[in-house]
Amino acid sequence: MNDAPLTRPHILDVIQESAARLGFRMSCEERTGALLATLAASKPGGRFLEIGTGVGAGAAWMASGMDASSRLTTIEFNPGLHAAAAVTFFDDPRVELVCADASEWLREYDGEPFDLAFVDWRPGKFYQLDTLLNLLAPGGLYVVDDLLPQDTWPENHPERVDQFLEAWPRAGMVATPMSWASGLLVAAKTASARIP
Ligand SMILES: C[S@@+](CC[C@H](N)C(=O)[O-])C[C@H]1O[C@@H](n2cnc3c(N)ncnc32)[C@H](O)[C@@H]1O
Repeated sequence: MNDAPLTRPHILDVIQESAARLGFRMSCEERTGALLATLAASKPGGRFLEIGTGVGAGAAWMASGMDASSRLTTIEFNPGLHAAAAVTFFDDPRVELVCADASEWLREYDGEPFDLAFVDWRPGKFYQLDTLLNLLAPGGLYVVDDLLPQDTWPENHPERVDQFLEAWPRAGMVATPMSWASGLLVAAKTASARIP
């Protein structure tokens, strides 16, 4: 047995070309993507959120597991990356690509709760964690990656990650840290939790 993904969305080829063209090196690992696809498939009609679109690798994996009535909102701050992802997903009405600062977006969002949030940048992970967790529906899943050392980490990043990990376990969430792929934490919101 190995843990290589059993399937792979074909649009990843296009996404990898965009990443190479733009010099973008932060797309999620394929194992993480495969897990996101499985989790997305477990939420028919689900509402999904991604913080940090990049060029769309995580979104492609999630979209590959989503059914026709599910919706993904993905937030990217960099207009060039957002534009590349928007081209890739132009014909998928399930995917809403937002070009915004996720920190502001999280402060202002007052729409439906989410069934899964993949938090792949700092807002909702290293800060505004409670804000993000309060946007989850009961049973909603919280997924973060890149908790194991990466060669793209800036100098003071290990302290940020340590602080994040020290914040778990926490009330209202059932969490599993996973020393797997780039290092994940997967957590589910308990039914009646309101994060303080
Ligand atoms: C790790 S990458 C995301 C990779 C993507 N989730 C994937 O799976 O391929 C993090 C992304 O967050 C974006 N970003 C940085 N600051 C941001 C902010 N304040 N709001 C939204 N996105 C931001 C970066 O431009 C980068 O594309």
